[in-house]
Amino acid sequence: MIDIKAYQKEISAKTDATLEKVLPASDTYPGSIHTLMRYSTFAGGKRIRPCLLMATFDACGGRNNNEEKALLTAAAIEMLHTFSLIHDDLPCMDDDDFRRGKPTAHKAFNEALAVLGGDALCIAAFEILATTGRIDIIKDIASALGTNGMLGGQVVDIESEGKQVTREIVEYIHRKKTAALICVSIRAGAIIAGADPVAIEKLTQFGELIGLSFQVVDDILDEESTTEQLGKDAGSDRENGKATYPSVFGMNESKKYARDLIEKAWKEIEFLGERGEILNKLAEYIVTRIS
Ligand code: IPE
Ligand code: IPE
Ligand code: MG
Ligand code: MG
Ligand code: MG
Repeated sequence: MIDIKAYQKEISAKTDATLEKVLPASDTYPGSIHTLMRYSTFAGGKRIRPCLLMATFDACGGRNNNEEKALLTAAAIEMLHTFSLIHDDLPCMDDDDFRRGKPTAHKAFNEALAVLGGDALCIAAFEILATTGRIDIIKDIASALGTNGMLGGQVVDIESEGKQVTREIVEYIHRKKTAALICVSIRAGAIIAGADPVAIEKLTQFGELIGLSFQVVDDILDEESTTEQLGKDAGSDRENGKATYPSVFGMNESKKYARDLIEKAWKEIEFLGERGEILNKLAEYIVTRIS
C-alpha cells in the first residue's frame, strides 16, 4: 500500500529541486522579473500535474535513465501552470488578490510585471522542454495550451461572465481551461516512459475525465470553502458571474458528477492493474481534496 501523501511530498520535493535549478536566480538582472517568477512558482501549490506525470511515468515502466527528462517536463508544466494562474488573477481577468496563500503577483509586484512574469515563465518553460529533445511532447503541450486548449477555455470563460450558459458551453470551458493541461501531463509521462499507443489512448481518456472532475471540484470549493482554506479568493466565481458547474447544475448534481467522472476514469486504467495504484489514489484525491 502506497501512502499517497508521502508520494505527493516526494514528487513535490523533486519538482521543486528541478525548478530551483532551471529558474533564473532572483538577483540575475533584471532582478524584479526573476523575483516575481520565483515568488509565484514557490508560493505553494499542490503540484498535482507533476505528481500525475511522474505517477504515469512510473506506472508505464519508466526507467531511471529517463527520469531526468520526466522531471524536467514536470517542472516545465508546473511553470506553464503558474503562468496561467498569474494571468488568470489579473484585474482584467478574475481580479483576485490571493493565490497559494499569498498576495497575487500583481498585488505583490505590479500589473505590468505580472504580465511579463507570466510571459517569461511560459517562454522559459518551452526553452526547458526543448532541452529534452522531444518535439512530439512539446507539440502536444503547446496544443493543450493554445486556442484549442487552455487559452480557448479562458476566452470562453471570460466571454460567458454574467450569462446563462448551456451544459455544452460550461463543459467546453472546463475541458479546455483545465482538463487539457492535466491530460497532457499524463500523456507526457506515458510517452517518456515508452508506453504503447493503446495505453496512451486509455491514459488520455483517464486524463480528460479526472481533469474535468478537477475543475468541477474547483468550482465547488470556490462556493463552499474559505479564502484561508483555499489560499485563494473564495466566492470569486459568484462575484464574477462565472459559468460554473454549481451555477448550471446545482451543488448536489455537481458533487455527484465530479465523483462519477472519477469512477469512469478508474475504469479506463484498469489495464494497469497494481501499477495503477498511485494514479487511482491521485484521482481519488482530486475529488476528496479540501483545497
Ligand atoms: C488552480 O489549479 C487552477 C485550476 C486549473 C483550477 P490548482 O488547484 O492545481 O492550483 P495550485 O497549483 O495547487 O495552486
Ligand atoms: C482557472 O480557472 C484555469 C486556469 C488558470 C487556466 P479558475 O479561474 O477557476 O482558477 P482559480 O479558481 O482562480 O484557481
Ligand atoms: Mg479564471
Ligand atoms: Mg481564477
Ligand atoms: Mg476556480
